[in-house]
Amino acid sequence: MLPKIDPDRLWRHQREMDGIGATTGGGVHRLALGEADIEAHRRLADWALARGWRVGLDDIGNMFLRREGSDPALPAVAAGSHTDSQPMGGRFDGMFGVLAALEALETIDDAGIETRHPLEVAVWNNEEGPRFTPACMGSATYAGGQPLDRMRAQTDADGTPMGACVDRLKAALPEAAHRPLGAPFAAFVEAHIEQGTTLEENGKIIGVVTGMQGYRRFRVEVTGEDAHSGTTPRARRKDAFVTATQMAVALHGAFLDEADTMRFTIGRFEVEPGGISVVPGKVRFVIDMRHPSAEALKTEGDRVAAICAAHRGPCEVAVDNYSSAEPMEFPEAIRARLEAAAEARGYPQMRCYSGAGHDARHIARLNPAGMIFIPCWRGISHNETESAEKDHCAAAAQVIADVLIELDGQS
Ligand code: HGY
Ligand code: MN
Ligand code: MN
Repeated sequence: MLPKIDPDRLWRHQREMDGIGATTGGGVHRLALGEADIEAHRRLADWALARGWRVGLDDIGNMFLRREGSDPALPAVAAGSHTDSQPMGGRFDGMFGVLAALEALETIDDAGIETRHPLEVAVWNNEEGPRFTPACMGSATYAGGQPLDRMRAQTDADGTPMGACVDRLKAALPEAAHRPLGAPFAAFVEAHIEQGTTLEENGKIIGVVTGMQGYRRFRVEVTGEDAHSGTTPRARRKDAFVTATQMAVALHGAFLDEADTMRFTIGRFEVEPGGISVVPGKVRFVIDMRHPSAEALKTEGDRVAAICAAHRGPCEVAVDNYSSAEPMEFPEAIRARLEAAAEARGYPQMRCYSGAGHDARHIARLNPAGMIFIPCWRGISHNETESAEKDHCAAAAQVIADVLIELDGQS
């Protein structure tokens, strides 16, 4: 008989984490390895150490809470997600998946089950990416998709390198053992809120994720000339704001597809120098382009530079496709196992596709991996009002616990 998780303990943990980096609007502001995120790591490590588990930390700041199995030579069976949030973000995005994994291990621990494989909660660093690019930095570096040295050298807007933040995390976790990058797991599963409305609209509690769409991200830098706003006639201006806004309108128009499949977003738009009486000489903006088709991402993404160049006017423009990921599918063996576990518990479930990106995409390159979703209120996420229900969180933790035990027995 598979042990039952403790919904109240899971919810207590969720509420505690909601308080770390809490915003007045009911969300969290917990940017990667900032003070609040390090405090969240410390709290998770304390909970793990109190159970006699071990804490590991790799050189890009991924943390692993490890419950030993009878055969330490076996690769770990793992579950997890991320603790960092978007600026003024939601309480559940990432953290819920970490806590569901923790609850699964605590349930197995309380039941006194000795697994053959070690079990691990994986806490991937910098999944969101607003402070340090690229997003999914920790999981991608762990899986060999990003070079460690270049990632540690990435800096935030204040010029702080990620490496210094990882060293600060290490100092906050003196009990942590060093963990090498790249060791494959026996399997990895991630629970996450859907960040869409499919489950809510269909009255389902568990979504078995079939795969996730790909993306291409572009930095666009428009260079004009700072000038006096009172004395400079339009004819002599090289106004980077006028140029960049014309580019943005043209880009949105170019990628407006009738089927509403393309997800084209400009979420960051920075005007410099920002003086109210200065014609702006510099604008930097970032494009997030996502699509389930690799071919569409290629053909449409390749149009971005030409559209920018066609609207550069008197300015110069530079376009850098700095980060990309192909669309991916999770292996059917893991999908079927997650589906059967939800079925066995009687949770209404369906298969669904992920419009959002997640760490599991990168870990799936190393070893078998899969994901489950739970609904979030009106599909709202990356927003302080993001919300999920206690029973749904508990159901996901139960599926994770059941599947970890099965994966231990099967692999
Ligand atoms: O942006 C994403 O897809 C993820 O929620 N960080
Ligand atoms: Mn997330
Ligand atoms: Mn997110």
